[in-house]
Amino acid sequence: MLRPSSKQIVDAFEEIGRLKKEKNAVILAHYYQDPDIQDVADFVGDSLELARAAQRSTADLIVFAGVHFMAEGAKILNPSRKVVLPDLRAGCSLANSCPPDAFAALRARHPDHFVVSYINCSAAIKAQSDVICTSSNAKKIISKVPADRPILFAPDRNLGAWLEKETGRSMLLWQGACIVHETFSERKIAALQLEHPDAELIAHPECEATLLSKAAFVGSTSALLKHVIASPKQKFIVATEAGILHQMRRQAPGKELIAAPPNQDCACNDCPYMKLNTLDKLLSALRDETPELTMPEDLRRKAEAPLLRMLEWSQ
Ligand code: 13P
Ligand code: SF4
Repeated sequence: MLRPSSKQIVDAFEEIGRLKKEKNAVILAHYYQDPDIQDVADFVGDSLELARAAQRSTADLIVFAGVHFMAEGAKILNPSRKVVLPDLRAGCSLANSCPPDAFAALRARHPDHFVVSYINCSAAIKAQSDVICTSSNAKKIISKVPADRPILFAPDRNLGAWLEKETGRSMLLWQGACIVHETFSERKIAALQLEHPDAELIAHPECEATLLSKAAFVGSTSALLKHVIASPKQKFIVATEAGILHQMRRQAPGKELIAAPPNQDCACNDCPYMKLNTLDKLLSALRDETPELTMPEDLRRKAEAPLLRMLEWSQ
């Protein structure tokens, strides 16, 4: 795909600024979006920060530059506002790995379990959950689940296993995974660490357990960003989607950042779903107010309760 020229980018930014005012719109973007999208957004954050921003929003139109489950979250919290997504096909391998019927069948076999679902799931899974969590607040949320209730955690097996280790609470884990965070090559990372002994390995908890056990710091996208800014270290090997490096470079200039390499000779540390959104599609979504994210009201209500519980528990 051809990247737009600087003139095209400036023109698009101007048009986006004009349309935002005209329509009382807000652009929310995740850290995994293209740099241009992050730069034009009103707010850039991790999943929890974006859910909070969506909850606070008074805009008539929310343009959600992220993936489908994130835009769904904005709609669940803002039923009266219009939510558009630059590309409706921007899904998520983790959300896809948990089909609602199969999940309902597992729940039926474990009716005593308290269901904690990671926000990276569809509204239909949220609607079957007791509480939602993100990678930022997961430890806190788990600590608030009544001690006498066994926990069913979905859909990420890696985040789930990491939480079991961190909280000491064993959980029944749905076996879903993120294609991006399972792509990293531990052999190539080990070679990089030999080449850069002064670099610190930092990782997102969706990575596999063996990688996480070698990381000096594990956290959500914004926790990784804050760590790079605050740490006295100068060099980092970053094991998460490569889009976060843009904010790290902006907010921690002078620090050396090395994207953890994928197994294959590919750009597999770029999320193919996140990257379906482009500046051009964002401009069209804002201008034409489409594609719009909609959902049946009964589903929205069922998904809202565990999401609101998360926001309350993570205060
Ligand atoms: P964060 O909540 O850390 O932003 O993670 C979102 C995500 O999709 C990770 O793959
Ligand atoms: Fe889903 Fe993974 Fe992409 Fe995050 S990085 S949106 S978990 S596929």
